[in-house]
Amino acid sequence: MKRMLSGIKPTGQLTLGNYIGALRNFVKYQDEYDLYVFIANLHCITVYNDPKELRKNLKDCVALYLACGLDPEKCCIFLQSDVMEHAQLGFIMCCNTYLGELNRMTQFKDKLAKGEQGLSGGIYTYPALMSADILMYDADYVPVGEDQKQHVELCRDTAIRFNNRYGKSFNIPEPVVPKVGAKIMSLSDPTKKMSKSEQTNKGCIYLLDDLKSVRKKIMSAKTDDVAKVQFDPENQPGISNLMSIVSALTNQSFEEITDMFNGKGYGDFKKYVADVVCDELSKIQERYNHIIENDIIEDVLAKGKAKAQIIAHKKLDQIQRTIGIEIR
Ligand code: AMP
Ligand code: TRP
Repeated sequence: MKRMLSGIKPTGQLTLGNYIGALRNFVKYQDEYDLYVFIANLHCITVYNDPKELRKNLKDCVALYLACGLDPEKCCIFLQSDVMEHAQLGFIMCCNTYLGELNRMTQFKDKLAKGEQGLSGGIYTYPALMSADILMYDADYVPVGEDQKQHVELCRDTAIRFNNRYGKSFNIPEPVVPKVGAKIMSLSDPTKKMSKSEQTNKGCIYLLDDLKSVRKKIMSAKTDDVAKVQFDPENQPGISNLMSIVSALTNQSFEEITDMFNGKGYGDFKKYVADVVCDELSKIQERYNHIIENDIIEDVLAKGKAKAQIIAHKKLDQIQRTIGIEIR
């Protein structure tokens, strides 16, 4: 069975973008692959978080993984920092990544371009830690949204170079980007990614938002004056984004959605989008509440840690021998 691995960095509450671009797909994959999913809490601290809030977000993230349908009997769910080998291999990968490569990462470049102040060293070197996360488990596939593809490609380049230098040490992973929904856009500004770090909340739907406000956000989503429900991201980014959301959640094709709303107004279409999203979220929230009440998160993480640790321990030891830093 091929191995698949992915992580989510829960700085803030998980969004509909995370669900459609990442989480929902993991649920399908757990039956087809040897799946490892982890909460990337070391990646979280590349920016400042209020410790109390961070703790809550981490716990919610695990609960939401489970609520979305991940089954700890079928896949390994763990907390990154519980497997300390990640930080150590992260440093080794950092030493095998060039400055030029890190400088090219668009996520970092965007932050610089926006003039964000107080950027940490961690946020700059974070793609090297991400390489370590992936290579540690010799993952074959790494499912991610569009924004993370470049980091997986950097991981591949680093691994190929490492193998050339030291002999075959790592499996070369491949990114898997979903065909529909790889980039869900903000409802209030459909030229920007729906993101938990968004300043105002209007454009972002959180998985734990109350359904009334979800409906309100969708009903006031930015559209256009073309007055036709059709997939044209260039000229109708708002409508196309809503279509992607519906298509990802219902498996309807864009043509089917266009036919369904032929001759109807955007109000009707938005109402349908809101119904589809609220229906999905209500199921997730019900399961989430059940999980929180039953307090099963620590058991799930303990089980995941035990399994991941065995692989990570062996891999780190192998790599440390390969590069010559072990003396025994
Ligand atoms: P992040 O929230 O940045 O840690 O992302 C976690 C996962 O969700 C990654 O695989 C991202 O690519 C994916 N993701 C985040 N935001 C979106 C979005 N707006 N649309 C689609 N996928 C997303
Ligand atoms: N960097 C990813 C994000 O921000 C999270 C992540 C960390 C990840 N390590 C990973 C994703 C390894 C896939 C594989 O979303």
